[in-house]
Amino acid sequence: MRLDKFISSQRTDLSRNDVKALVKKGLVTVNGQKAKKADMQLDESSALVAVGGEEIVYRKNLYLMLNKPQGVVCSTKEGECPTVIDIIPEEYRREGLFPAGRLDKDTEGFVLLTDDGQLAHRMLSPKSHVPKTYFVRLERPWELSYKEKFENGMTIDGGEKCLPAQFIPKQEPNECELILHEGKFHQVKRMFEALGNKVVYLKRIKIGALALDEKLPLGGVLEIMHKDVERLQSQ
Ligand code: URA
Repeated sequence: MRLDKFISSQRTDLSRNDVKALVKKGLVTVNGQKAKKADMQLDESSALVAVGGEEIVYRKNLYLMLNKPQGVVCSTKEGECPTVIDIIPEEYRREGLFPAGRLDKDTEGFVLLTDDGQLAHRMLSPKSHVPKTYFVRLERPWELSYKEKFENGMTIDGGEKCLPAQFIPKQEPNECELILHEGKFHQVKRMFEALGNKVVYLKRIKIGALALDEKLPLGGVLEIMHKDVERLQSQ
């Protein structure tokens, strides 16, 4: 891989032009030697590259936590609405980056974006059962009887049977959390409809054991580091 491509793929704060400027200033080293050209070729899995004396730890894949706002779609195709890829900062855009799991256009919250096809495949597989936690605001107050109905596995419109889900009432009478172990189309909304209620606001707050960072604003992106990537798949 080219040196400038390698650095900008690993250090998402540096564009290829930034790398060129740093090479010119003599601030980039490859295997301990000052790099002369930004387009030099290197073996990305073994080369020791440093920028300003700071070594780059090679990460093959990128994992991003996006706090998706309403009005943005979880697709990579151009349409009328902006996509999750359109709204992430330029420096995070990589070939093959896509949303591993979808949220509706009017749902907010945690979307995982990655170029790690294997992890995405595992997370998206119907057999994976990675729990996803949602914060839900309802049109009418929740009822304690919901708990058992969710836990028994509900049948939603069209006769679709859902896996048992965990219902967690909040103090506010119209607010609750729901933990699902699968991802059927509009599932949260359809489950509450089956109970005669209506979702008026929906936000995904957790994937596996990894919670959406509370400080991340709507539209904000955070890079998920290695130790936290494992938490995405834990129960
Ligand atoms: N369930 C829904 O109804 N919508 C979402 O976006 C996610 C889960």
